[in-house]
Order: sequence, then C-alpha cells, then structure tokens
Amino acid sequence: MTVNNVRSHLFQSQVAKRQLDCIGTCKDGQWLILEDPLTKEKKEIYDAISGAAVGSLKHGDKEILSQLSSFALESAYTFCTNYSNKAAEDLAAFMCSKSNGSFDSAMFVCSGSEANENAMKYIKQYHLERNEPKRFKFISRKNAYHGYLIGALSIGDNPKKPLLKNILLSDEQTPKISRLYPYRDMKDGMTEEEYTKQLLENLEDTFIKNDPSTVAAVVMETVCGSALGTTTPPKGYLDGARAISHKYGALFMLDEVMCGLGRTGFPYAFMDPNFGLSTGGPDILSFGKTIGSGFVSLSGVLLSSKMVRTIEEGSGVAIGYQTYHSHHLNCRVGLAVQQKLHEGNLIENVRIVGEYLKDGLKKQLKGCKVYGEVRGAGNFLSVELVKNNVTKEFFPPEMRMSAVLYKKTFHKGAHFMCVSGCAGYEVKNGKVIEYGDHLTMAPAFGFSKDDADFIIKVIKETFFEIEEEYL
Ligand SMILES: Cc1ncc(COP(=O)(O)O)c(C=O)c1O
Repeated sequence: MTVNNVRSHLFQSQVAKRQLDCIGTCKDGQWLILEDPLTKEKKEIYDAISGAAVGSLKHGDKEILSQLSSFALESAYTFCTNYSNKAAEDLAAFMCSKSNGSFDSAMFVCSGSEANENAMKYIKQYHLERNEPKRFKFISRKNAYHGYLIGALSIGDNPKKPLLKNILLSDEQTPKISRLYPYRDMKDGMTEEEYTKQLLENLEDTFIKNDPSTVAAVVMETVCGSALGTTTPPKGYLDGARAISHKYGALFMLDEVMCGLGRTGFPYAFMDPNFGLSTGGPDILSFGKTIGSGFVSLSGVLLSSKMVRTIEEGSGVAIGYQTYHSHHLNCRVGLAVQQKLHEGNLIENVRIVGEYLKDGLKKQLKGCKVYGEVRGAGNFLSVELVKNNVTKEFFPPEMRMSAVLYKKTFHKGAHFMCVSGCAGYEVKNGKVIEYGDHLTMAPAFGFSKDDADFIIKVIKETFFEIEEEYL
C-alpha cells in the first residue's frame, strides 16, 4: 500500500507528499485502520509502537473518551499567572504520590521537548537562587534524544543535529559523555561493574575538563529511547552518575518522556530494581507521551523537594509561563489515564507480558544470523539487526535496512519504530550517514500474550526473510 502523486498541504515528515491517512481504530483498539487517500484502499495494522510509545491505553478507550467529552463540557481555560485549576493540582499530587517521596511538585506543558526545555530553565533558576550564576552547562550523553526544540536538541545527539548545529547551544555549553550501549561498548570479558566504572570515569573526567563549577546539570534518559533503541543502564550507573553530579554541585536530571510512567513496568523507570536508582530519585524528571496516551497532548516536569524548597525560600516564583501550562482539560484527562493504569494493574501487566514478549523474541530469533540482540525493559523493547552477529558488523548504510524492516513488518500487519543510527553517524559531503539499524516496540500497557505472540511472529518472519534475502 503506497501513496503517490497526492499533494499534501500539511508540512510534516514527508513534505508535500501525502502519507496514508489513519481513519480510526478497530478490533480491540490496538489496531489502526489506514486508508490510501487516492485509491481508498484500507489496511488494518497492529500498532506495536503505540504511535511513538505514546499510547499507554489502547486507541479509542471508551471509558476515557466518554470522560473526555464530559470533562470538556465542564472545562474553562485559564492562564497560569492568574489562576490554578483543580485538575492540574490533582494530577500533580497524584504523580508525586506515586514517586515514593522523590518529588514534591509537578508542572505541565504539552510535549516532551517543551518539558525538557522547561526543566533546563528551572535547573538554571535553582542555581541562580543559590547565588551560583556561573552554572550554565548541561552534560548529557552521546546518541541520546531529548526532543526537537533548540535546547532539547542541543542536549541530545541525533543524526539530524549536525545539519542544525550553528543554531543550537554551543558545544561548550553542552558537553557530551559516552553513549549507553552495552551491546557494542562492553568489550569481551568485561563485567557489568567494569562497564559501570568506565562510564562513570568518563562522566567524572567530563566534569573535570569542563570546570565543574560551571556545570548546571547532568541529563540522561533512564532507558534510552529512539536513538539507541531501549538500552538499559548497567547496575550502579544511575546511582554513580547522581553521586558525581552532586559531588560537583550540579543537579541530576532524568528524561523519562519515552520510558516513564509505567512503560518499563514500574511507576517511574528509575524505580526498576535491576538498573534503577537504589534510593530516592533524581533532582528533576521530565515525562510526556503516555501521560495523555494520545488523547490529549500533555507532558511535564517533576521537581524534588530540594529544588522546590530552594525556589520557595528564594524568589518564590517559577520563572516563565506558557499559554498552555497546566491546561485544565489535558490535565484532567491525564489524571483519568493515570488512575486507570494504576487501578487496573496495567503497569504490572507491562512487567509480566513484557517479560513473556522479551523471552519469546530471544528464543524465536536464536539462530538467525542477522539478529543482534533483544534489549529493553517492560514492553519497551528493541531488536537490533546486524549483518553478522558474531562480529556485530552492521549492514552498509546505503542499504537502508531500517526502511526494509519497516516495509516488511508493515506488510505482515504490524507497525514498529524502525530507526538507523544506533551505531553512530557521520557527515560526509554535507550528507548524514547513519550506521546500524533496529526496531523498537512499545504496545499499549494492556496488551495480551496473544498480542505478544503476534509481535514475535512478525519479527521472526522478518528477520529470517532478511537473512535469506540479504546475506
Ligand atoms: C526521551 C525523549 N525525550 C524527549 C522527547 C521529545 O518529546 P516530544 O516529541 O513530545 O517533544 C522524546 C520523543 O520521542 C523522547 O523520546
């Protein structure tokens, strides 16, 4: 099913080239109905990535949609400098209550990129209130994604970044530390502890080289998202990174826009006992995506009492506001979604069925020569494609294997996020060359073992077909 020669007036992804239209959902809500705008041909597809890891509930959830319409009738827009609203207050309290005391306050905006930019601003404000105006640098990881606004892109590192480099924050302001990529960076025989040590030494060196008294914060995704494909940190890494940040007076921030709020099987990803923080939380955390589950555009920032008290006892004012801060309807729907996830034990389901899915993928792909590894947590999982799984050599970038992955899985009835660049990128003659390919899945939290079996079947067939056709 392809769409050609239909002009679009929508400036997005494929400029002026019309994509397939999504015209609704079917079956149990995890399936989308796509339509070719030219031929009107339709296709039903299992949304194994919930848009872009956005859906925590399934599409078209009747309970939420009926609440949404009644909430809309009762909703009035107000601007946050004049009034608060009960929906935003209740949602903030709910989110703090699920954090085991890690957070004291929340603020709400509309996208993950905006959340990260606001977090950067509050981090700066925290240092100003403490009379440390020199702190302006944000240390973050290579191969990380934090969004597509100027500040968020600056602290990130993705293949499109070099093209926009001279309008971004400077390299001096945004020093980078090693990527988190055990599959390629843990050398043969290296233990998890040694890998943790190597990553932490790199972080400490980066502080020292960049004048620690000028560093405002360290920012990292708890579980990497699209750029690397759901890599999880080695044990002790997050604790160590927080400790080093604090040693030098900087704040420690986690970006859980893609991996948070249940996606990895815990209320916050940093709570995972296998790789999370062993006590407490970060100083500040950004979230987005699943909080509104695609029904409303909602995201935000959670702040620890350390940050809140400093500002409360200082100026008492949060710097900056945007028109859609604390939007009443968005927050009310966000709370309904969160309550449904917690009351319906759907986060637990992510853990249980996610484990089943991960094990099944590993078993079924074993023996396939183009299967690199399965990684991730909860139902936030990726499979890396390689040309040779002994040497870990990737396919030549000109073969565009992420597009092959997308096409083949789509053909078999499932939609994944298929991405190139996990193994790095470089710019040659003004063109970005991306190395390595993976696919990522993140189904709705209520997915079943039957759904998992379908995902496994599609991926298995795809990988074995690639082995047969491309080796
Ligand atoms: C880790 C992470 N941070 C931030 C963002 C940006 O969120 P948004 O696309 O809602 O601006 C994303 C989006 O995928 C993400 O994965």
